[in-house]
Amino acid sequence: MTTQSSAQGGKPALASRETFSTRKLFILSAIGSAVGLGNIWRFPYIAYDNGGGAFLIPYLAALLSAGIPLLFLDYAIGHKFRGSAPLAYRRLHRGAEVLGWWQVLVCFIIAIYYAVIIAWAAMYTWFSVTKAWGDDAAGFLMGEFLQVAEVPGVTLDYVPGIFWPLLIVWLVIIVIMVAGVRRGISRANGIFLPLLVVMFVLLVAQSLFLPGAIDGLNAFFTPNWEALGDPTVWAAAYGHIFFSLSVAFGIMITYSSYLKRKTDLTGSGMVVAFANSGFEMLAGIGVFAALGFMAQAAGSAIDEVATAGIGLAFIAFPTIVSEAPFGAIMGVLFFGSLVFAGVTSLISILEVIVAAVQDKSGWSRVASAVAVCVPVALISIVLFPTVTGLYLLDTFDAFVNSFGILAGALVAVVMIAWVFRKLPVLSKHLNRTSSIKMRWTWMILVGVVAPLALAYMLYNEFVTKINEPYEGYPVDFLAVYGWGMAGALVVVAIILSLIPWSKKSKIDDPEYAAIAAEEDEEATS
Ligand code: ALA
Repeated sequence: MTTQSSAQGGKPALASRETFSTRKLFILSAIGSAVGLGNIWRFPYIAYDNGGGAFLIPYLAALLSAGIPLLFLDYAIGHKFRGSAPLAYRRLHRGAEVLGWWQVLVCFIIAIYYAVIIAWAAMYTWFSVTKAWGDDAAGFLMGEFLQVAEVPGVTLDYVPGIFWPLLIVWLVIIVIMVAGVRRGISRANGIFLPLLVVMFVLLVAQSLFLPGAIDGLNAFFTPNWEALGDPTVWAAAYGHIFFSLSVAFGIMITYSSYLKRKTDLTGSGMVVAFANSGFEMLAGIGVFAALGFMAQAAGSAIDEVATAGIGLAFIAFPTIVSEAPFGAIMGVLFFGSLVFAGVTSLISILEVIVAAVQDKSGWSRVASAVAVCVPVALISIVLFPTVTGLYLLDTFDAFVNSFGILAGALVAVVMIAWVFRKLPVLSKHLNRTSSIKMRWTWMILVGVVAPLALAYMLYNEFVTKINEPYEGYPVDFLAVYGWGMAGALVVVAIILSLIPWSKKSKIDDPEYAAIAAEEDEEATS
């Protein structure tokens, strides 16, 4: 189904803005954003570590009670106020602009390290062919490939084997971003997402035929019901869902601002959310089937080989690739999938920043994309392909998730629901053209359940990270690149919100206000 009419019934269109040409392309791009590194390397281990099969209950609870309601909230804000995160928030309420900039800065931090992981995955796609890691995948990753220094810090001691691939990743990304929403983002998703799905399905099929696969699946699905009584398991489910669905850090606000006026927002959201979860389940099945094989080959238990993140992708998987029949093909499918999943998410993360700068400055698309992507790429290239890059990446990732995404989400829902009291108007907007109607339940989920879950998680995260230095890294390193970075997000967001808007963004456009009011009226009548 496509939604072709933008200005309805002869009404003037709201400030001219590029749009996705069809709803299908929007859905494809939103799925491309949601399905990312988080699905492939985070979800399988989080599920396994938090109750296996029983984790599906908190996972579904988190998806239905917070993930999807907040996804709809993002859609409503972006689509109603038709702007990048800061502009949409500014139109929602004069005092809300800072929330948008906070989300833009979260995207900046994620973008600079996310690209590095894509570069590693690209190199490992190639390494899979020759099995470059020999018989010591861990030693190869930390030694020859990353050349990790013994002590965390920030150095200018570069590792050429990461520097060059990272540069190439950024060049590709910059080309996509400069091309714009239709010619760049839509097209890239239209190519990479189908490729990703085909490659990943082949990978899962290949994993399922490995000896020992069934033991892996048993480990993954066997429910540990006791885990359901543990609040940290529920917190893990809620903590995962925001990053995974790409909600609460500006992405879905920005993407939905490119939708035509008459679009089924909630119906599209359901498709995106369940496609993301479906992919996540598929990743869990594929990864654990492969780990079952690895455990059997090593004569060890699954819990000895199951790890998360970097350990799973760059140590466990290479080991599997070395041992499995047709391992090279498996490696190319796995690492290639990581690259495609990563690229389609990274462009959505960068779009949050590009759109914000474009709205604030009034510059053209090309100028804004260059003004954003080139400095972001340079910062990424200066900071990460060094012998200490891994420590920095790990710290940024851990702190920006909790004290960027989750903290930002908590403040946003509390402000929107309780201070600005905008949930009724937003639910009206969702109901205006959507197939699934939002009523009291949605407002209670966004205004009460989500804030309580977020507050609990943040409290837990705060206590854990205060009591024990993250990963045992030096306290001064964490003070600057963990706590300091998270604090700087808020301070810089406040500063950015004080810069005046370009006239072109029609911040207080009377025409805009009139149309918005008319739409509200239509919704109530
Ligand atoms: N949603 C994206 C991911 O899962 C950011 O990696």
